[in-house]
Amino acid sequence: MGKQVTIDGIRAVITDPKLGQGGQGFAQKAKLYSNSAIELVIKSQAKAGKNDIRARKLVELNLASHSPYLAGPIATAEKSGQIVNIAPFAKGQDVESDRPRSFPELVELCHHITCQWAILEEQGIAHGDIAPSNVIVSDDGSASLIDFDNFASLEAKVPKATMAGQSMMTAPEIRLRSHPPTIESDRFAYAVLFNMILLRRHPSDGLAANPKELAKVMTTGQWPERVRPIQTGETPVEAMGDILPALFDAAFDIDPINRPTAQQWRHGFRQSLQTIYIHNCGQAFISGNKQTRCPFCQDYIQIPNQASSNETMIFKIRIPSLGTKYSFGLKDGQSIYLGRNNLGRGAASVSNRHLSVSRMNQKLYLRHLGQHPSALYRDGQWYNLKDVWLKPYEYQKDGVLIRLANLDIHLGL
Ligand SMILES: Nc1ncnc2c1ncn2[C@@H]1O[C@H](COP(=O)(O)OP(=O)(O)O)[C@@H](O)[C@H]1O
Ligand SMILES: [Mg+2]
Ligand SMILES: [Zn+2]
Repeated sequence: MGKQVTIDGIRAVITDPKLGQGGQGFAQKAKLYSNSAIELVIKSQAKAGKNDIRARKLVELNLASHSPYLAGPIATAEKSGQIVNIAPFAKGQDVESDRPRSFPELVELCHHITCQWAILEEQGIAHGDIAPSNVIVSDDGSASLIDFDNFASLEAKVPKATMAGQSMMTAPEIRLRSHPPTIESDRFAYAVLFNMILLRRHPSDGLAANPKELAKVMTTGQWPERVRPIQTGETPVEAMGDILPALFDAAFDIDPINRPTAQQWRHGFRQSLQTIYIHNCGQAFISGNKQTRCPFCQDYIQIPNQASSNETMIFKIRIPSLGTKYSFGLKDGQSIYLGRNNLGRGAASVSNRHLSVSRMNQKLYLRHLGQHPSALYRDGQWYNLKDVWLKPYEYQKDGVLIRLANLDIHLGL
């Protein structure tokens, strides 16, 4: 049995003494003594300045009670010159160590982050150290925020945070005037984080080779992606639709007041999730209002809710278990491959190319390609699906339910 610690009446048993080592202190993994199913993190840091008052205030805010995805401390104590606090353990990997995810999943992940962030903004709290290392992604693609040590509060009594946050995330006013973190500087950092998650790169990549250049690129007031030459294989900004790029533009503004709020981003992501489009080149993207070409392969495309031609049929995929939906257009004679790359969350055992869907005359031809079996739901039961033709009346009215490995999807118009 590991070492026992009691922090303000909460008794815990250390299960991993070396969970994390940071600049400010160290973190240990533990479990609750009275219920070993509850995992915790114990963090110790040297007492300095007013960090004891700040730690108590943070516990008082009780962020963890507002959301299971806000892993703020629930108790704190002073032990031989150390401020020790205890917080819920967030299961998963940090954003940078997370497994590769499809584009739709990444949009969902960002949406989930905005939901947590919105709770903080509502309470007048800035996290103060938003960075990939402080966002833990669970296997199912939800995100927890950890490490609130550098938080800021609108409440005047709370002593100011002392750190600037991580350099690659820092807002211009913090770089230029060593300003303490604020709700507005968080808004900048979240935009950098979303850039890193959705485009899989830092906005300064390819534009800055050293800290001095980084500082310059991040303080121009312009979203650096706008001037960044795109390399082959990278996700173009055009894959993000209309709403998100507008939010990014505003988020990089020098004037903190112009940066979009958590709620604006949350609405932006929610709307974007409704317009994810899968092109038959296999890439998924958020469609814009005037989109005429796929941003990846440059083929002409027909997007739903735009003036429709009778040539392209717009199909919708719904994933009932997740409540997500995607759409794609198929011209007669065209095929699309459905698989892990474009279906997203929950598609872990689905192959990259699991099922091809082809349109021939008015019929649909489904062909199984994946490693684990596919099945089609018909007449009240599941049938193994190798290949099948669906007549218009079979898919046009109510659509069909298809199982790809362990993932059920609904395909219809
Ligand atoms: N609540 C938590 N849940 C899961 N892991 C945590 C938690 N708190 C800390 N860790 C782990 O310990 C590491 C360091 O803790 P953190 O609070 O981020 O300290 P630092 O100020 O050093 O960044 C984190 O990067 C993470 O791997
Ligand atoms: Mg950290
Ligand atoms: Zn394409």
